[in-house]
Amino acid sequence: MTTNKIKKIGILTSGGDAPGLNAVIRAVVITATRQYGWEVVGINDGFEGLLDETKLTPLSLEQVISILQLGGTILGTTNRGHFVFSEERPEELADPTIADQAVQFCKNQGIDALVAIGGDGTLRISHELEKRGLPIVSVPKTIDNDLLGTDYTFGFDTALTTATNAIDNLRTTAASHNRVMVVEVMGRDTGWIALYAGIGSGAHVILIPEIPFTVESILKQIEWRDNTLKAKFTLVVVAEGARPVGGEAIYRETQENGGMLRLGGIARWLVTELEGTCNHDVREVVLGHLQRGGSPTATDRVLCTRFGAEAVHLIAQGRTGTMVSLRGTSIEATEVWKVVARQKRVPHNGDLVQTARGLGICLGD
Ligand code: F6P
Repeated sequence: MTTNKIKKIGILTSGGDAPGLNAVIRAVVITATRQYGWEVVGINDGFEGLLDETKLTPLSLEQVISILQLGGTILGTTNRGHFVFSEERPEELADPTIADQAVQFCKNQGIDALVAIGGDGTLRISHELEKRGLPIVSVPKTIDNDLLGTDYTFGFDTALTTATNAIDNLRTTAASHNRVMVVEVMGRDTGWIALYAGIGSGAHVILIPEIPFTVESILKQIEWRDNTLKAKFTLVVVAEGARPVGGEAIYRETQENGGMLRLGGIARWLVTELEGTCNHDVREVVLGHLQRGGSPTATDRVLCTRFGAEAVHLIAQGRTGTMVSLRGTSIEATEVWKVVARQKRVPHNGDLVQTARGLGICLGD
């Protein structure tokens, strides 16, 4: 589809929220309206909004005033609903007719193309809709930073800043009481938030899903700090998906609507392992959804603005089936089929891990 055929685009936010969603919406609306003269329609509640015309809201410049710094999403979002993938054939939607309905819905509404802002689940659904003829450009959102094809996802910088500030606060109370403080951060099956926030806050132990840990190695680090450094407190940052050698990740709930699993509980588990074994009081703090809330950092606001504007330009150039991405300092386009249903994990021997080890941070192995 070329620029001159496009009159109206839709925009939706899907999956768990992340700081910066509104900044992307704003950039899309302003760019599409000012530079191309297109109409923009907001689709509420993610892809669910493509099944229900009451969920459409026209978005003009007035609607996006002062939302650059606003957390959450003015369009609403969900990581539940009709667009679930089959358990037997995970590459297909459980009910493929839902995708046909959504594509037909856009045709009926005169929506020529879509900007879909979301993480892995969103990319998978977008890929299915694009295959059925709906032109889509995706924008990579997730605090977890676990999407391939982009150096950073938006939301990550804000989440790691929140986590870093929280760990800074825990440092003083841990030091005052000579305690071991275990801080659980999000990240699903990857350790990006834990590693960045751990290094950024000067944590002493960082446990990530990519490197299974032993309790003994943590005890050794605590002992070393006690005896050699005479620093009688230790900060342990643990990713929610981290697991002991030979063990499994811990889930808060094993089954939810649509079979989604929720990680959580590793900090509590560690406290029970460390308490009584080391010579300290041990406390845990789970940062949870605090990491998803609040105003995006300046870095995220700029990234979101660049991503949103580029998504519109890609639609104008007919380069759909793509995801906007950050490569080095440039904004580029990555073909969705190359990155969908795959995960960007922390490389075991990458420079971040090496730097952490070089500084004496215990990675649990
Ligand atoms: O993917 C983002 C994320 O915040 C993960 O870090 C976390 O495991 C999950 O979403 C929590 O999801 P929910 O919104 O279902 O609690």
